[in-house]
Amino acid sequence: MQTIGVLGGMFDPIHTGHIRAALAALDNGADRVLLAPCQTPAHRPSAAASAQQRLDMCRLAAQAHPGLEASDIELREETCYAVDTVRLLKRQYPGARICWIVGADKLATLPHWHKAGELFSLCEFWVCPRPGEDAHGSVPGAQLRVLPLPPMQASSGMVISALHAFSDAETLLPHDVARYIAANGLYQPDYAAFLAARGMSESRLAHTLGVRETAVALASWHGACMQRASVAAMLHDLAKPLPLSEMQKIARKYALTLPDDMLQDANLLHGPVAAAIAQHEMNVQDAEILSAIACHTTGKPGMSTLDQVLFIADAIEPNRRDYPGLSEMRALAAHNLKGAVLLSMQRTREYVLSQGHRFCPLTESAMLDLANKEELS
Ligand SMILES: [Fe+2]
Ligand SMILES: [Fe+2]
Repeated sequence: MQTIGVLGGMFDPIHTGHIRAALAALDNGADRVLLAPCQTPAHRPSAAASAQQRLDMCRLAAQAHPGLEASDIELREETCYAVDTVRLLKRQYPGARICWIVGADKLATLPHWHKAGELFSLCEFWVCPRPGEDAHGSVPGAQLRVLPLPPMQASSGMVISALHAFSDAETLLPHDVARYIAANGLYQPDYAAFLAARGMSESRLAHTLGVRETAVALASWHGACMQRASVAAMLHDLAKPLPLSEMQKIARKYALTLPDDMLQDANLLHGPVAAAIAQHEMNVQDAEILSAIACHTTGKPGMSTLDQVLFIADAIEPNRRDYPGLSEMRALAAHNLKGAVLLSMQRTREYVLSQGHRFCPLTESAMLDLANKEELS
């Protein structure tokens, strides 16, 4: 007889606590465990992930663990209540034993679940201990079994707090879930709306989203913080729509100390000005993010991995029209970040000099620094 565990919930987002509970069910006799996100409540907070995104995250979390699978069963119209889901599973898997995995904090509510009597006759309840909750209570008519695992400490709230502090919540999130969250900007302020309100065009917004996607992938491969890469990418061009005179005004307002060649060139100035706006007007107080935004066009000596990630993501994001060296840079960036940044700067220098312009001295010193580090590595 097949034993199917069902772990339902918001999964907003799924975290290691959920996964431990599902794995404990597999260890204790379930042949498979369905991670089944429930429907979105009517009064959903605006920062929450959509049902599809919650299901996607369950899929990513499940893929590393044979026996775990994401299921949309609780998202269908016909499964309003747990009893509907269990009935449907009984039809799909005749003779299967269904075990509903439930937190100890929910035990007292079980008798009030829809058609509780019928539900109790159709499935068992496997109880996950929770801090401060009695997992060994009894519920008349229900078959209960306590899963032997320590009380769950993780929560989605803890995950979101860690993300807001610009971390990838490594101890709470599977890497692929953290990457999905960063790549899609989940649980962040609505930066796209903020940029649109500041006059960013649709094509620049598409570029920005392309930079985010690329920066998060590069951060994942090269060991930088994906959440920081995501936020830095979203804000890197926020000053780009401004005229030079406005950028200069903002540079003066926030007392930016910049060389004259940068103050006279919108292309060189929009990075430092974007960082100043992010810091002073959007309350982004993370030095690594601000540094990456500030130097995304010019580079600088001593670029961090995050600085390099944003610099090259800006140059190679998928919406970029082809230009000399682009495919080479894309291939290089996957395994040699420094080399790709250096190549990008070399190409820019060739172009700038061919146009009879002066090359940015800050980029020149960034190139020297990167070349020295390349030699040493
Ligand atoms: Fe830019
Ligand atoms: Fe850009």
